[in-house]
Amino acid sequence: MEKNRAQWGSKIGFILAAAGSAVGLGNIWKFPGRAYEGGGGCFLLIYLGMVVLLGAPLMLSELSVGRASQTNIVGTFRKLGHPCFSWVGWMGVTGAFIITCYYSHVGGWVLRYVVGYAAEAPKIYGDSLGYFYEMLGLHADGAASFPWLTLLFAGIFMAVNAVVIIRGVESGIEKFNKVGMPALFILLLVLLTRAVTLEGAKPGIEYMVSLDWSKVTFDTFLAALGQAFYSLSIGMAIMITYGSYLPRTENIARNTGLICAMDTLVAVLAGFIVVPAVFATLGAEQIGKGGGFAFVSLAKVFQQMPGGTFFGVLFYLLLLFAALTSCMSLVEGIVAFLTEHFAWPRKATTIAVCAAMFAIGCLYTCSQAAYPIKGVWFDAANGVSFPAFCDAMEFLTDRIMIPVCALGSCLFVGWVWKPEKAVAEIEQNGVRFALAKVYTVIIKYVAPVAILTILVMSFATGMTLS
Ligand code: TRP
Repeated sequence: MEKNRAQWGSKIGFILAAAGSAVGLGNIWKFPGRAYEGGGGCFLLIYLGMVVLLGAPLMLSELSVGRASQTNIVGTFRKLGHPCFSWVGWMGVTGAFIITCYYSHVGGWVLRYVVGYAAEAPKIYGDSLGYFYEMLGLHADGAASFPWLTLLFAGIFMAVNAVVIIRGVESGIEKFNKVGMPALFILLLVLLTRAVTLEGAKPGIEYMVSLDWSKVTFDTFLAALGQAFYSLSIGMAIMITYGSYLPRTENIARNTGLICAMDTLVAVLAGFIVVPAVFATLGAEQIGKGGGFAFVSLAKVFQQMPGGTFFGVLFYLLLLFAALTSCMSLVEGIVAFLTEHFAWPRKATTIAVCAAMFAIGCLYTCSQAAYPIKGVWFDAANGVSFPAFCDAMEFLTDRIMIPVCALGSCLFVGWVWKPEKAVAEIEQNGVRFALAKVYTVIIKYVAPVAILTILVMSFATGMTLS
């Protein structure tokens, strides 16, 4: 299989594709809301700690495992160690599947906003919260309707993904990322300048650098860990799959550092755009903490900016790119597994899987506001509960599947495959890995204990979605 396996065409192509996988809605859509909830500056610090201490070592492990095995996520565990660890792979693929169901729909909302800013910006400026709910099928008078237009946009988003994935690794994923990623970064800087100079933004900036530890609870750590893993795209099939397309000459330690740094930088920038904008405009209470946080608050930034509508279109276009590059990494992880494990053809598999994920995702969008579609949840604090279907989906992946899968990968690398082999794989390019000792301790002890504690505690204290 090794001979005809796909490979990245260039070094920068891989870094941008992996960064493209990492930088996505998680950074721009979820992170600012979480940072706000977690007390601003304190959350930033905790988050940074999670990235450095747990995120980076795990990403490094996933990339080295993938490159060493040169195969998909389930095959990896078989090939390198123990078939009993294949459950980690199965859970990774399943998790990636569930995430993609809703990810593609939020991608559809983003597309809807691209068109919204281009075609009817005054409507968004007039009532940005109302516009958001209307998109989800809930009208100002409280009536609900089927959000078919939004679902259509989600369908288009998914179709674009499918086309890129069918084209393959180098001419699809890599090409796409090479253009989109740099553009996203430049635009973020422009928006940052605007957001922090808005009138009334100062308390928001202060909030983001304030250290008010009274807001920090155990849940803050949980949210920071979940967010860090989610944002870095670890704990699912993805980085193993992307690592498997890497040539041996690549320095994966340095690449991991670069990818983590880029991802964190974008998240922090987004936090300093959205939170000050929220303070300057509607006030956090009115916006609520859910999905509307970024969508709604940014409207005022664009409204008060010279050429704002133009920047609005551009911003959502780039957010769309960021979402696409992340979504395609998820789809690639799933498709790579299905095509290799079952020897299914790439094209038909991609189409079938994408169609299924789109269909399930419709429940996600519909359960946001318009329809009372419920999911089931169980924890020790609240027993059985019935949160909205969309929340249940996010809980399941962010709070359970990603941590469990990450724990499985840590245990696998730390105790089955052994860190020495990981370090040998990392050093394949001839450069000594200076942090090998620290890495070994983290992967064997620190990371499994931290993830396990957080999982157990989250079950005991119940879950709140931030
Ligand atoms: N990291 C992406 C984001 O921040 C989402 C994502 C892509 C992801 N691939 C993943 C999350 C794999 C978990 C696992 O938006």
